Amino acid sequence: MSRRPVVAGNFKMNLLAEEARALASSLRAALVAEPASCDVVLAPVYTSLHAVREALEGSSIALAAQDVHFEDGGAFTGAVGAPFLVDAGCTYVIVGHSERRQLFGERDADVQKKAQAAQRGGLVPIVCVGETLEEREAGRAEEVVLSQVKAGLEGLDLDRVLVAYEPVWAIGTGRTASPDDAQAMHAAIRGSLSAAFRDKVRILYGGSVKADNAAALLGRPDVDGALVGGASLKTESFLPIIRAAKH
Ligand code: PGA
Repeated sequence: MSRRPVVAGNFKMNLLAEEARALASSLRAALVAEPASCDVVLAPVYTSLHAVREALEGSSIALAAQDVHFEDGGAFTGAVGAPFLVDAGCTYVIVGHSERRQLFGERDADVQKKAQAAQRGGLVPIVCVGETLEEREAGRAEEVVLSQVKAGLEGLDLDRVLVAYEPVWAIGTGRTASPDDAQAMHAAIRGSLSAAFRDKVRILYGGSVKADNAAALLGRPDVDGALVGGASLKTESFLPIIRAAKH
């Protein structure tokens, strides 16, 4: 079964609105000149969503948020629920990123509620999973990742979800999982999905994806795309990754 690849840029807490707008415009122009063979998604900071939406208006590049609150609305000071993200033009949202898990104390139960809230609101959640170095060295990587997948996908319509495997030790460190290690974990994740959706769900790899390693990673049969942090912040480093993603 052929799954169209997805390349998503996670800007994290980088790029002010005008910087994000300029990047979005430049990517857009490049993809008009030579269309991508993959779906392209940009996830700026909340406060830059509006500017990026304007820059992408009418293009095929989709907008994502980096997090979502699990309630739809109400007295939750500082939180942003799915209806507000849809209102801001998002079609995707990242949930359970390891930085949310590690720095903000999110647990599987929170990730599950957020993914469900995203779908309830009409968004496609990008459910992030990944083991720490300690867990990998203890031989527990697969067990940890599969339990995160099970919790994160609970109750979801698997037709409207992306999974991102991001080993924590590879994020922002310059260390990447080898294409073989990534493929092995992606195959394990895929194998854990219900038979009806096993071949359909797109599983992205994330963690120090760069122009020079993207083709090898994306060339693996179960690697359906990339979730890119640092290298998504500049057209020169992001565009080659988009170009590396082909059917
Ligand atoms: P990185 O981040 O590409 O900078 O390693 C990936 C991510 O955290 O999504």
